[in-house]
Amino acid sequence: MSATDTFDIADVRTRFTSLSRGFAFFDGPGGSQTPDAVGAAIAATTRDASANLGAPYATSRRVTAILEEAERGAAAFVGASPGEITFGMNMTSLNFALSRTAARTWQAGDRVIVSALDHDANVAPWIELAHDHQLDLQTIAIKADTTLDLDDLRAKLDDRTRVVAFTAASNAVGTKTPVREISDLAHSVGALSWVDGVHFAAHEPVDVDALGADALLCSTYKFCGPHLGFAYVRAEVAETWRPYKVRPLPTPTTGRKMSTGTFPFEALAGLNATFAYLDEIGGMAAIGAYERGLAERFLATLPSTVVHYGLPHLEGRLPTFVANVEGVPADIASERLAERGVGVWSSDTWYSLGLYETLGFGERSLRIGMSHYNTVEEVDLLVAELGRLS
Ligand SMILES: Cc1ncc(COP(=O)(O)O)c(C=O)c1O
Repeated sequence: MSATDTFDIADVRTRFTSLSRGFAFFDGPGGSQTPDAVGAAIAATTRDASANLGAPYATSRRVTAILEEAERGAAAFVGASPGEITFGMNMTSLNFALSRTAARTWQAGDRVIVSALDHDANVAPWIELAHDHQLDLQTIAIKADTTLDLDDLRAKLDDRTRVVAFTAASNAVGTKTPVREISDLAHSVGALSWVDGVHFAAHEPVDVDALGADALLCSTYKFCGPHLGFAYVRAEVAETWRPYKVRPLPTPTTGRKMSTGTFPFEALAGLNATFAYLDEIGGMAAIGAYERGLAERFLATLPSTVVHYGLPHLEGRLPTFVANVEGVPADIASERLAERGVGVWSSDTWYSLGLYETLGFGERSLRIGMSHYNTVEEVDLLVAELGRLS
């Protein structure tokens, strides 16, 4: 039996009101659907736990419990300790803030390496940092097949390299990177391994120790959670940093040391419901296996009028595709698909400027992302409607 047969997709779908309306969402890479339990937890928090940390009564104890549960949940999700988790508004804001904290002791001329495969949220913070502090910014090239060119990385690493910032998987073409190998290369010159886990974490289990990551950032609205980001920073690394922080606040953990202001307790309660949901339906390994089954079917049945960029098979990639339909501009294709009950976006760069410049997806393209709440029937509908477009 394949994973598409053993995963209880019917049970999954009953948990989402948004999936009962006859529309097939293939836009998870932009933002996933959210189970009703997440919204219910958010609403309950605004009703029952509207306080802040540290007061000697029930509502305050409840928000403390919500925060602690969220730290434990996020830590378990990435294989870290609860004290190593920092929450923030989204991945981008966290990355701008943490990159600046990390770099407080760096000197002009120190080297920062980013990747041409990355979403700009893990490139722009380093470009701006390099601009402000005269750092030497280098970019790991990608090969024609969209994999990272590790020889190029090796050539660019030197003893002044402070960080290698790269994604675990492309949010556009779905290509995965050899995170452990890159982390080892970064560590071989004493640099930090700084991983954008946003796209990867929505599809496969994360283990920061196995990946050798010093920092790894996630965005919870990509895996059925609320609009919220969190970061893991290895405690031994974070302990050496001087955080940007208001002074009177106690800092019980290195993770909290780097969060600023009051926590979004409602969203954290929603996140706790998200982690419970992901566990109840079998966890990320089961999710990944099921999604691979959907993607295999998609690739096997894709009409010849559809060109997709990136790796042609599932080896080394996630179920996320950038594609064009022969003779049909992407904006028109996405509108026509939406009219027929299929949700995919069209865009130009997908925020992956290096990839766009290297590969050129055509001026605009469609992004088709499979999520664990999609069905085989939805994939068949998608393929049929793509076929009808040209
Ligand atoms: C791979 C990747 N990294 C980073 C981001 C930015 O995440 P956020 O919206 O949480 O700032 C995105 C958002 O689409 C993404 O896909």
